[in-house]
Amino acid sequence: MTDITYRPEAPADAALILALTDRAFGPGRYAKAAERLREGNALIAALSISAWRGEALLGSVRMWPVRVGDGVSVFLGPIAVEADERKHGIGAELVERACAAARTAGWQSVFLVGDAPYFGRMGFEVAPGLKMPGPVDRRRVLWKALSDGAGAPEGLARV
Ligand SMILES: CC(C)(COP(=O)(O)OP(=O)(O)OC[C@H]1O[C@@H](n2cnc3c(N)ncnc32)[C@H](O)[C@@H]1OP(=O)(O)O)[C@@H](O)C(=O)NCCC(=O)NCCS
Repeated sequence: MTDITYRPEAPADAALILALTDRAFGPGRYAKAAERLREGNALIAALSISAWRGEALLGSVRMWPVRVGDGVSVFLGPIAVEADERKHGIGAELVERACAAARTAGWQSVFLVGDAPYFGRMGFEVAPGLKMPGPVDRRRVLWKALSDGAGAPEGLARV
């Protein structure tokens, strides 16, 4: 789809992005363990990518700096694509671009809480030693290396 523009998030995009995310996930999302890593945190705007067709927001992914054990990792999410724009590769493109930007910025690894059948296609795998700050299905805690030889994030994830 050639009429789609991908760009880093700007402050003025926030209201549209929150509305899209609320539509995609529903009100329950604020109760999730992942939200503990976002509240009181500041997203990394340069790595948080949104997809646009003109003035219409089609999709968004956000990236957050998080401490994990003795190190740091970038936390991906939420990711959402407008319902009538799905299955055209926008979600995968958002993830690829956010990860590429994080790699360029020097981040060693990225992690998320999500469905392995979806994110496995993009190179994510289970992070067995990463502990989320709240109850979560361990099979959904996934990570990906952003540099050669980077190890899986281990320890408690916290802001
Ligand atoms: C998940 C989401 C961002 C994917 O966006 P998208 O632009 O449709 O993604 P892509 O086009 O790159 O990939 C679509 C493919 O992934 C599959 N897929 C989508 N969500 C999936 C999931 N949770 N588990 C497994 N496969 C999934 C689709 O069925 C489709 O398969 P196909 O290529 O065989 O047709 C979008 O469906 C969405 O906003 N969902 C609601 C919010 C959400 O659940 N986000 C987190 C997901 S863990």
